[in-house]
Amino acid sequence: MSEELLSVDHLQMRFKNPHNRAQTVHAVDDVSFTVAPGEILGVVGESGSGKSTIGRCILGLEKPSDGSIHFGGRDLTKHSLLRNRRDIAKQLQVVFQDPYSSLNPFRTIGQTLAEPLQAALRLSDKQADARARDMLETVGLPRAAADRFPGQFSGGQRQRIGIARALIMQPQLVVLDEAVSALDLSTQAQILNLLAQLAKERGLAYIFIAHDLDVVRYISHRTLVLYRGRIMEQGPAGDVHSAPLHPYTAALNAAAPVTDPVEQRKRRTARAAAATAATAAAAASATPPSPASPAAPATPATGQLGCPFAARCAFAQEVCRTKRPADTPVGERTVACHMYDATSGHTRLGAGMPAAELIAS
Ligand SMILES: Nc1ncnc2c1ncn2[C@@H]1O[C@H](COP(=O)(O)OP(=O)(O)OP(=O)(O)O)[C@@H](O)[C@H]1O
Ligand code: SF4
Ligand SMILES: [Mg+2]
Repeated sequence: MSEELLSVDHLQMRFKNPHNRAQTVHAVDDVSFTVAPGEILGVVGESGSGKSTIGRCILGLEKPSDGSIHFGGRDLTKHSLLRNRRDIAKQLQVVFQDPYSSLNPFRTIGQTLAEPLQAALRLSDKQADARARDMLETVGLPRAAADRFPGQFSGGQRQRIGIARALIMQPQLVVLDEAVSALDLSTQAQILNLLAQLAKERGLAYIFIAHDLDVVRYISHRTLVLYRGRIMEQGPAGDVHSAPLHPYTAALNAAAPVTDPVEQRKRRTARAAAATAATAAAAASATPPSPASPAAPATPATGQLGCPFAARCAFAQEVCRTKRPADTPVGERTVACHMYDATSGHTRLGAGMPAAELIAS
């Protein structure tokens, strides 16, 4: 039996494009990863890259087009289990960006938190109320918050309530989908610290979804970088952040605003080196590359053959437009880029200038 808590294998999620029913959107395209008990996996990528769709498939809110999702050894994608998910649901919880929209404005926070305890564990009103107040205290709110209504709380406090609601059933895995994205920086830091502390104390695993590589790096053990439904690279969070292997990760990293002047200088150097390398790559390539443009929106994939990042990549060559890069192991990491893909016969390590060298310089 696997030691992993969660194992996602070759997950595919295809939708009909709502604007053109003849077209299929590959929201998630052959995505595989695992999460160990107590592990925090950051999932990062720009809007439309498929982050929430992966989360929704894990939570059973979408039925995947293909692939499997095993949680605690059980296949969540089986029909019978989907109908019978209540016991699994206790161990698998979610916190969204805005918990307010899913809180009943006419019920007190205490009632909302007590409800699942009463339904699933058959606790008495008094026992459930006591557990709800304990949980509020755990997330840094006063016990008396149980008597108030959702509209009486600030954004940060509401996110604490969202966390309390997710944790009250003592889950093993929590999907946090942009859970801190709407908060101001200081509240964001407080909530991130709270989440990290709770994970450590309770041995919780998280799938932490965000746009921002810095935020993901702060809380995660490992990071998975998504672009147009595909994994570009994954590996230890510190390594992915400080020395990206994939040009898309490097572009995401270079685009993130930073206040630290040392880090700013490092990124300026990396950008200058990338521009020089792009010119060299263009000269070496039969097909001139398009410049990487992190500002351009990620459009949904429609089953294209090559690398989804090819149109924006400064290093793209002909093979990038025709052949899908394999997930190539690089130490503890994997990267899907022909610069690292020995099987394609187009490995440019040594001959070219891989992103890791650029960013490390
Ligand atoms: N129900 C649906 N029907 C059609 N297309 C969908 C559906 N749900 C998601 N998509 C498409 O799938 C792609 C991935 O969407 P998803 O919401 O997972 O992205 P995301 O990375 O979470 O983006 P964001 O950062 O904006 O939340 C997008 O192109 C989206 O338009
Ligand atoms: S496979 Fe090609 S286009 Fe894709 S990231 Fe690597 S070099 Fe760029
Ligand atoms: Mg989303």
